[in-house]
Formats: sequence, structure tokens, C-alpha cells
Amino acid sequence: QSLKSYNTFAIDAKTPEIHEFASVEALKKLIVLLREKDFILLGGGSNTIFTADTERPVIVNKLSGVHFFSEGERHFVSAAGGESWQKLVSDTVSNGFFGIENLALIPGSVGAAPVQNIGAYGVEIKDRLIEIKVLDVDSLAIKTITNQECRFSYRDSRFKHDWKNRYIILEITLELFKENHCVLNYPGLKDYFLDRDQNTLASKEIYDRICFIRQSKLPDPSLLPNAGSFFKNPIVSESQFAAIQKEFDDIVWYPMPDGQIKLAAGWLLDRAGWKGRGIGPVGMHEKQALVMVNFGDASGEDVVAFTHRLQDDIRDKFGVELEPEPVFI
Ligand code: EPU
Repeated sequence: QSLKSYNTFAIDAKTPEIHEFASVEALKKLIVLLREKDFILLGGGSNTIFTADTERPVIVNKLSGVHFFSEGERHFVSAAGGESWQKLVSDTVSNGFFGIENLALIPGSVGAAPVQNIGAYGVEIKDRLIEIKVLDVDSLAIKTITNQECRFSYRDSRFKHDWKNRYIILEITLELFKENHCVLNYPGLKDYFLDRDQNTLASKEIYDRICFIRQSKLPDPSLLPNAGSFFKNPIVSESQFAAIQKEFDDIVWYPMPDGQIKLAAGWLLDRAGWKGRGIGPVGMHEKQALVMVNFGDASGEDVVAFTHRLQDDIRDKFGVELEPEPVFI
């Protein structure tokens, strides 16, 4: 069976079996059925690159349900893992809540969001996440995991490491705010709302602005297949940074709390001439050099070869290692 419609990069990799589950009971049955097989779990497939066909069965999270609730003055939303992240964001905004409006238009499912700690425009899901309900694949028990236990960091969590293939995310609970709670530290946001009293801003206004920014530079995967930012923004030491900056004084960088420096990978790739450039069916987007796009029928091999080419080039030019952001299978 083809996985082309199950990954937003639209790679036509094959698997012997695809199973969707829409209830926890169905999921438990599937796990028992596939016990000896090392299955692959997919949500929206927006952060997965299939580098080749696979012998592993694929299971797809279609669990649904969203509910808002309050405890005293605090407000929360719980959403099932198979829900669309974007739909959840737009639901919270249309209900007048603040909290995740900066994370508008991120492709993918709710269950995938904490795995790589999605983030954009000054907010990460870890800033809002209270707890996660998971199914333990070995014992089939349902457990609740707290934010702290996930050890979130930039585009990372334990779900990518020791919890990989161990827990399946059933539901997440986020804290939202009824009162004004804007995060406007991203330059393109702060400047836009400069002449506005922040206390009177609605979450919908921020949401609309984020949608505008994203739509003006990020390709819509349903029109031009892609997996969002293809590399993490690399983190380098202060001394390495000083050496690079000597040669490239317009480099874009952000200080990290620990004194290290985060570089804009999009800037590095752009400066190295990769914006709008590609090899065969794959290339870097014409408006955002950090986003790899599939122009036609790219294979896993095409993506891997191009990834290595980019990594080699950035290493040669800047002495910096680029690490892919999506998971390669
Ligand atoms: N830049 C260039 N040329 C480019 C792209 C970027 O010079 O082709 C420069 C920009 O001018 C800007 C800087 O690089 O000064 C950063 O660019 P941008 O604001 O577009 O953000 P980014 O660092 O490229 C990160 C996230 C995005 C997130 C945005 C906004 C990562 C890997 N990517 O991108 O997340 O939406 O910030 O917060 O951290 C994703 O993870 O899939 C994703 C899209």
C-alpha cells in the first residue's frame, strides 16, 4: 500500500499494511495483532520522511474529540491525538481563548505536537501543556504523563528518545487563558501591533496575523508537498559564533539562556544560495530556504541525497552541522 497520502512530503513509499484506529479499544486490538511486528505510528505525517519502502506495518491515529473545561479561574482544553492541530487552534480562538494562537497553521495532528515540541513566533507547546494521556504499548495500560516528565527542549522531547515506540499519545491537555495573554516578541508581530494597546488585542487578531505571515512564506503542503522547516536552527558555542560572525557580519542569530548561540538555518541556506534551488524533484522553497519541497515525485533517495548535499555545503561554508528536523524512517 502506498503511503503517499499519509505523509505531507508525499513520498510514495510502500508498506504491507496500513491500519487506522478511531478508538482506544481498536488501538489495543491492533497492538495485540501486531505485537511481534515493529509498527510505525503516524499522525498527520507532517514530520516524517520515508527514505525507502518499509516492511513495517503503519498505524494511523484517528482518535477524535475536543472538550473545554474550567477549574475555578483556570481554563483548559483536552484534545484527542488524532485531531487536527490547526483545527484545535482555530477552535480555541473562536471560543475567545488565548494560549496557542501563535501556533496557528502548523500542519499535523494533536498527538504529534508534543513529540517534537512544536513552536513558532515565541510560543512552544511545552509552555501550555499540562499533561498527556498515553497508552503503554507493552502493558496496554493508560497512563498520565506530566509536562515535566516529557523533558521538553527545542524541537525535542522524550517521545523522540527513550519513549519512542513505548507510548502512544491518546489525548493532551493544555491551559488556555480568558484574559489577555499575548506573546508578541517575534519581530514581525511586535512591529505590526506597535500602535495598538496590547491589552485590547483579541487572540483572533494575533491568529490572523500569524496566518498571514505563514501564508506569505510557507508553502501549503496540500499544494506543494513539504514537511515544514527541514532542519533545526543549529546551536553553536560563543567562540564558534564569533569566528563565523567575523566573516558574515549580517548573520541572523539568537542568544540562548545558557550563553550559546542559535543560528537561523534559513539564513545560512539562503546565504549559501539554496533559496529556490534544488536538485531534480526536490528543492528549497523560493520564499523560505529552510523548507524543502517536493516538486513532483521525489523518492526517499532523492531527499536523502539532497539532504547530504546541503549539510556538506553548510559545513564547508560555515563550519556548522545542520540536523534534520523531521524524523527519517
Ligand atoms: N531567513 C533568511 N532567508 C530565508 C529564511 C529565513 O534570511 O530563506 C532569515 C529571516 O529573515 C529571519 C531568520 O532567518 O531573520 C529566521 O527566519 P523565520 O523567522 O522565517 O524563522 P525560522 O528560524 O526559519 C523558525 C521555526 C519555524 C517557525 C518560525 C517562526 C525552526 C526549525 N523553525 O523558522 O517552525 O514557524 O521560526 O517562529 O525552528 C517548523 O518547525 O516546521 C517551522 C516552520
